[in-house]
Amino acid sequence: MTIPYKESSKGKKDQIRSMFDNISGNYDRLNQMLSLGVERIWKKKMVKAIKHTNPKKILDIATGTADIAVLQAEKIPQASIIGLDLSPKMIDFAKGKVERKGLSHRIDLVVGDSESLPYEENSFDAVSISFGVRNFENLEKGIEEIYRVLNKGGRIFVLEFSKPTIFPFKQLFNFYFGNILPRIGSWVSKDKSAYTYLFESVQSFPDFEKFTDVLDKCGFKNCKWKAFTLGICCLYIGEK
Ligand SMILES: C[S@@+](CC[C@H](N)C(=O)[O-])C[C@H]1O[C@@H](n2cnc3c(N)ncnc32)[C@H](O)[C@@H]1O
Repeated sequence: MTIPYKESSKGKKDQIRSMFDNISGNYDRLNQMLSLGVERIWKKKMVKAIKHTNPKKILDIATGTADIAVLQAEKIPQASIIGLDLSPKMIDFAKGKVERKGLSHRIDLVVGDSESLPYEENSFDAVSISFGVRNFENLEKGIEEIYRVLNKGGRIFVLEFSKPTIFPFKQLFNFYFGNILPRIGSWVSKDKSAYTYLFESVQSFPDFEKFTDVLDKCGFKNCKWKAFTLGICCLYIGEK
């Protein structure tokens, strides 16, 4: 299992919570800087795909600082949105952002664990997770929980890093992601492990067909994926 703090005796979930609490203050700035703004484009594409399915109730898991929840509120006017995250400090930043944008009446923000969701079966039309599944302690348990809370016909939307395969882009990407990004990330966030963990967790994540296989196994049907930016990132969709 890939974990952020190899010397720690805590389990993955506690380590992930601590890591995101630590970097919460720099998270948005670093994201924009290190992705050269491209992640914003991927997030918009994901929200466009969600809008297409006309959902009324959306759960955004691993909402972080609520980027996706805010885009959903702006682009999908009929939807009410819950953003859920393991890290109380990420949720604090999310609340500030949502208030500043005047969207508190549309977005409810809660601290919670995706592997044990505090919702009844068949509660949501869509569940989104952007750059979150890679951090689950138990991937299948998290996906099965999402399946449980979705309405029949509801969809899961997962945005996640993947590993590009095309030469020489693959080599360039690995050099940037494995060497440059952890140095800048560690320097700005003051957390040495967080951005090394980012590279390692992307390397060990089951991407493309391997992830749609996980969705299949957890009960989803019509599972598909679409790669963005030469395979750096991928959008996965499955239906209950
Ligand atoms: C890389 S951030 C992504 C934030 C946001 N979705 C975005 O795209 O900017 C990953 C988030 O997943 C959250 N997370 C990790 N494991 C989780 C779990 N089991 N349940 C809920 N949130 C979790 C972390 O606390 C963190 O805020």
